[in-house]
Amino acid sequence: MINKDNNSKKLELDILDDIGPATKIHLIEAGIDSLKDLIIRGPQDVADVTGMTMEQSIDLCNKARIKLEEANIIERTFVSATELYNKRRKIERISTGSKHFDELLGGGFEVNAITEIYGEFGSGKTQICHTSSVMVQQKRTDGGLEGGVIYIDTENTFRPERIVSISKARNIDYVKVLENIVVAKAFNSAHQELIIHEIGKIIENSNIRLLVLDSAISHYRAEYVGRGTLSERQQKINKLMHMLIRISETYKVAVILTNQIQSVPDTIFGDPFRPVGGNIIAHSSTYRIYLKKAGKNRIARIVDSPYHPEIEALFSLGEEGVTDPV
Ligand code: GTP
Ligand code: MG
Repeated sequence: MINKDNNSKKLELDILDDIGPATKIHLIEAGIDSLKDLIIRGPQDVADVTGMTMEQSIDLCNKARIKLEEANIIERTFVSATELYNKRRKIERISTGSKHFDELLGGGFEVNAITEIYGEFGSGKTQICHTSSVMVQQKRTDGGLEGGVIYIDTENTFRPERIVSISKARNIDYVKVLENIVVAKAFNSAHQELIIHEIGKIIENSNIRLLVLDSAISHYRAEYVGRGTLSERQQKINKLMHMLIRISETYKVAVILTNQIQSVPDTIFGDPFRPVGGNIIAHSSTYRIYLKKAGKNRIARIVDSPYHPEIEALFSLGEEGVTDPV
């Protein structure tokens, strides 16, 4: 694994005066042992594990946020539009593997953001996850960020052999590539949540720049069946998405998550397919890509982007993973 120098010393819980010894033990037992963990888990979780009131917990999380802002770890709350503009021009991106697809995204998958990829079976969601896991490790001049990957696999479709074949087809040393992908198999939704609670530690100690979640809500769909469970399911998905947003911002990683589609039978105009998971995923993803099959090729359409028009790109799936059509 690529190691990273970290300045975590400055970010220990101890620098907040409000945390007494008993609270500290509760937090550490719950896996919250840094300021970053505090803001990623958020006030509700912190209140639950420490027995604090919600008010105290919000106060604590806000103080952690201020310390992290002061240390330049996360973006400050008030920034000028000029500063934001200059930052956005320098934003880091990971190549998809296809020039067309990269252009669609303004250069590739964005760091500090969540990109949702949805489409029917066989449309290429898992292939995109595999290819970007290889691409992120390349030099910046070759479309990567020289960083590692955490790959959360909920459908048992991660294949190291595929990483090997994509790397070989691209003349990349597959031994190193495999070495820098941490795979976590999530067996159910509770296990998936546990993994997401834990990943801060892995990211902190290694140079992880990409987090893949393939697929994001399949366990929730399978476990929460029927109308009566809908609100609980949506609450859980909401919490998951907010943790992912905070992880992407705090650790400067790109998050790619995949989603299945379902048909909406009463659609009169337009496309009858919608991503599953409802509005929560839509509202918390920065970018959404809809994949469609087009014979041997695939069409990626960017949907609901804050600043891209709804445009499309044609790409293809080959030995080298995501690529341009020949
Ligand atoms: P679900 O998870 O079932 O919803 O589908 P998905 O969208 O994840 O599809 P996936 O990414 O698994 O795409 C499957 C398609 O990728 C296949 O139909 C092939 O076209 C292509 N593919 C997968 N593996 C290979 C490979 O080794 N070589 C080539 N050339 N194409 C491949
Ligand atoms: Mg898949």
